[in-house]
Amino acid sequence: MDCENKIAVVHNGIIENYKVLKKNLQNEGHQFRTDTDTEVLAHLIEEIHKKIDDLHKAVNESLKLVEGTYGLVVLSKEEPDKLIVARKGSPLVIGVGENENFIASDVAALVVHTKNVIYLKDNETAEVTADSFSVKTLANNFVEPVIKEIDWDISMIEKGDFDYFMQKEIFEQTDSISNAFRGRFNANLNTARLGGVNLKPEQLENIDQIVIIACGTSWHAGLIGEYMIESMARIPAKVQYASEFRYREPIINHRTLVISISQSGETADTLAAVREAKEKGARVMGITNVIGSTIARETDFGSYIHAGAEIGVASTKAFTSQLTVLFLLGWMLGRMRMLTPEIGAKYAEELIKIPEKVEEILSYDDHIKELVTSNGIPTNALYLGRGINYPVALEGALKLKEISYIHAEGYPAAEMKHGPIALIDENMPVVFIAPNDFVYDKILTNIEEVKARKGKVIAIANKDSKGIEDIADSVIYIPKTISLLSPLLTVIPLQLLAYHYAIAKNCNVDQPRNLAKSVTVE
Ligand code: F6R
Repeated sequence: MDCENKIAVVHNGIIENYKVLKKNLQNEGHQFRTDTDTEVLAHLIEEIHKKIDDLHKAVNESLKLVEGTYGLVVLSKEEPDKLIVARKGSPLVIGVGENENFIASDVAALVVHTKNVIYLKDNETAEVTADSFSVKTLANNFVEPVIKEIDWDISMIEKGDFDYFMQKEIFEQTDSISNAFRGRFNANLNTARLGGVNLKPEQLENIDQIVIIACGTSWHAGLIGEYMIESMARIPAKVQYASEFRYREPIINHRTLVISISQSGETADTLAAVREAKEKGARVMGITNVIGSTIARETDFGSYIHAGAEIGVASTKAFTSQLTVLFLLGWMLGRMRMLTPEIGAKYAEELIKIPEKVEEILSYDDHIKELVTSNGIPTNALYLGRGINYPVALEGALKLKEISYIHAEGYPAAEMKHGPIALIDENMPVVFIAPNDFVYDKILTNIEEVKARKGKVIAIANKDSKGIEDIADSVIYIPKTISLLSPLLTVIPLQLLAYHYAIAKNCNVDQPRNLAKSVTVE
């Protein structure tokens, strides 16, 4: 609120120059009640509103002085039926209803009220009443708003028979994975068809490297995408944290294909990396879930993962849908290069079978719960995997730490002997991701090393795997698939493990402390 308690603001973002603004406003006599950067906005608007009577214009004028990011709503007691909203860097969506309009930072919050939304662009502001809205630039020029229809339905944002959204979203993966590949096969050519990716073979010839940028779980999907793309298309690929990307003078140019992965399509670091890559002349693709999100709009082309609304803060179904789209992309690029139609056909066959295999793993939920309740709650855990399942180890550890607050680390299994092995004792559970692929025997050796140091081993393995039952303390069996698709299966028990540990610790699974669903600040 301002000094007079007349102007209220709601702000998502960071005002970088708030200290200077605050000092100037204090010199003008403004009294501050908090140390927040947000409060500065209320006083700044109050000050400018003294000179500019029109609230919308006063907000625009104020924002010209502000450096930083904001999704902002301003309300004045003197005009209580009007909201002024603004966006720069942080998302802001106007929900258009009948005789009612809404403001939110995420469309998921609007679906119960309306499916018609306006995504405000950076440096746009709007005046919204119950039955009207008008959008302007900061320079007060009117902008024609584009109303988009969201294709999510209400059931997506209700828990149904589940206790938590995260649980519901884990169990939705049979459908969400199918939705990610449905209609994306070209049976005649034994390849994938991604509508938004219109790369011609001669354009692909010009691409000499792929750089994947993402954060958090999406970054883990990127690491797996790197294996998939390099293996199928034989194009050098590397993955970078979006937050590091633009601070390291990335070596990219017009021959680089940059793939940005983001469930929300609003992650500030990923968006900034997309802009940096575009500025350097790279072709930039977006793999996003939220239709119309900023990354989806700002990338040159892209594919949606069609996972539906993901409400739980910990990403689950978006991850497996991202993997599905990355697989389709690698397969498609591979077929444009040297991958044979026979191998292409095999990929289609295997991918189609994934949802029923996921369903089978989900049916082991009680066994996984039992495993958690009968072994007590650890304070630390180690997740180990090799090859394409090493990033799954990272993802399993991230899921556990973010929702149950149990410290966990993911490592490539063979790296254990270079340090983490020192941590292992009888109190340290070690989760091995050990599908029956070409590194299986090596993983067995790693398990023995852990057992020799009294570590407790939980293994994720295939039913026909030999030897594992004799050395692991517990085994969660999963169906077999080809190595490139195995992360879509191996991650499911890890999501359930994290979920049950969090429940056992009475944690708020859907809204873990200190975390936000979309990280819209740098
Ligand atoms: C972890 C998680 C986060 C997000 C990360 C990126 O469960 O959800 O690590 O993956 O904040 O978010 P998006 O994918 O929206 O860019």
